[in-house]
Amino acid sequence: MDYPTGLTNYGPVESRENPVKLHLSLCAGIALAGLGIATSGAALGAPGGPNGELLFRQRCSMCHSAVASRQVPLGPNLAGVVGRKAAATTFAYSSALKQSGLTWTRANLDRYLTGPARMVPGTKMAVVVPNPAERSALVDYLAAAR
Ligand code: HEC
Repeated sequence: MDYPTGLTNYGPVESRENPVKLHLSLCAGIALAGLGIATSGAALGAPGGPNGELLFRQRCSMCHSAVASRQVPLGPNLAGVVGRKAAATTFAYSSALKQSGLTWTRANLDRYLTGPARMVPGTKMAVVVPNPAERSALVDYLAAAR
């Protein structure tokens, strides 16, 4: 503001503007908060069903990323894994998985997550997801991760 400093009359003008500015920024804030709610609502998926994205974050993301550009050192990248051959990334896989000849169909992923070592003896992946609805939500999430 480049009001002449001697004119104290401008003071009230400014304080009349302020509530408008406050109102505008409040509105923007509320709109952004609304967007946040909409986003997390979408991430919750079907009401009542397990949330694949949340499960992935909680149980898989310490070793895997489902974002192509992001690597997690402990496990292979899983972006686009549905439909892909097993052991197809640059990760240092077990020879068991490399020689498995598997393609990650939804059914094979479901079986692997039921018991990785039972399906591929010698695999380095040890995480089991015993709950069928949770496996299905995870496979849905992976199918959408490109
Ligand atoms: C403690 C680390 C760790 C966790 C947690 C983990 N994994 Fe793995 N995962 C691995 C490793 C290591 C491999 C490579 C296995 C091998 O080489 O035999 C692997 C392999 C895989 C593969 C095969 C990938 C390919 O390219 O063939 C899939 C699919 C997979 N994991 C899914 C999951 C899912 C889904 C979860 C969460 C429920 C999960 N993993 C949790 C370490 C982990």
